[in-house]
Amino acid sequence: MTQPFRIALAGLGTVGTGVVRILQTHGELLAERAGCRLEIAAVSARSRGKNRGLDISGYDWSDDPVALARRDDIDCLVEVIGGEDGPAKAAIETALSAGMNVVTANKALLAHHGQALAERAEAHGAALRFEAAVAGGIPVVKALMEGLAGNRLTRVMGVMNGTCNYILTEMLRTGADYAQVLEAAQQLGYAEADPAFDVGGIDAAHKLALLAALAFGTRVDFAGVRVEGIDHLTLPDLQRAADMGYRVKLLGVARLDGTALEQRVQPCLVPADTAIGQLDGVTNAVVLEGDFIGQVTLEGPGAGEGPTASAILADIVDIASGLRRPVFGRPADRLIDAAAPAATPPAQYCVRLTLEDRAGCWAEVAAVLGRHGVSIDRMQQYAHDGPGAPVVIVTHPTADAVLDAALDEIAGLAVSLARPVALRIEAL
Ligand code: HSE
Repeated sequence: MTQPFRIALAGLGTVGTGVVRILQTHGELLAERAGCRLEIAAVSARSRGKNRGLDISGYDWSDDPVALARRDDIDCLVEVIGGEDGPAKAAIETALSAGMNVVTANKALLAHHGQALAERAEAHGAALRFEAAVAGGIPVVKALMEGLAGNRLTRVMGVMNGTCNYILTEMLRTGADYAQVLEAAQQLGYAEADPAFDVGGIDAAHKLALLAALAFGTRVDFAGVRVEGIDHLTLPDLQRAADMGYRVKLLGVARLDGTALEQRVQPCLVPADTAIGQLDGVTNAVVLEGDFIGQVTLEGPGAGEGPTASAILADIVDIASGLRRPVFGRPADRLIDAAAPAATPPAQYCVRLTLEDRAGCWAEVAAVLGRHGVSIDRMQQYAHDGPGAPVVIVTHPTADAVLDAALDEIAGLAVSLARPVALRIEAL
């Protein structure tokens, strides 16, 4: 009789609860797929008595996740505590050093310490898998590592934060305000413990840094990601983008140009009639571009209990069935240090201005744009009740540094009543 594959589960929040639920629901199916029974041996969480709607009485309990990693009767530690340091890091390091396999959903930890953890895992012959860390239930890590292995990857981009996509689509659909929709996303279990990580773009940047390492064979470089969140956007930004035929999406884009790695997360406009433009709610989409395949778009639920736990189970089944790969697809000591890009490629931008509504105001703004060489493709002024006239312009392709300089100057004009907001129009 084959020995069971013994799991220690560190964390019983949204994702941990989902992992238990799948293991309790699909015991036989998972055993067939893994070639052995998958068994939870021990669990650890902050509160033992909390009602999770599950029977966990048959599992050993520990208050300390590191104690789980020290046991010698465990095949795999599943870490779903979260946090880039603290107990999650200590438990994973302890497990890997003992040669214990690890499955984690912890994008923050891997974005900051991915290289060191990959080296540790590979030095001790342990697997370290993280499908659940990127784009929830979408099997994008597997697609990059296995399905697209015949390609040189040229670009990875997409919507990688479910909370932001939920906020952006719900605000536009219902007209509800930002705080209200964010609260709903928290109640649905989509948001990070600190939702500033979602709306500030940091969570998407963690994920993008991991995807870039997988796609391009570079060391994880979270510090190299340029990050802008959605927290400064207002309903009129979304409505005016919609009027112009666009949707606002928090996009992550990574591109390797020679040895220069461009990584950025920012709210962008995409045409409303594209697959990404039509993404609703918590859905994520990742576009993978390879030299022989062209583009592959993977779309699915990017957050929440079921989808994230589903990705964890995929990793557990792989490990239990004996599949081994380097953590980032090639040996950690062969991952390269990428250079910073010289500049972001020029693009069209949609700019919202708030101007005094009297003769000559627009001429002052136009003069600044003209002096900086920013050319206008389209523009529109909207009706208004208050003193500020909302003016939206779409530029011809321009370098972001040039536009920033022009907008800094415009912000300083007396006719400009609010700081201009510029959103890049991303070519898909
Ligand atoms: N807070 C994350 C999101 C959870 O909203 O996408 C999944 O990583």
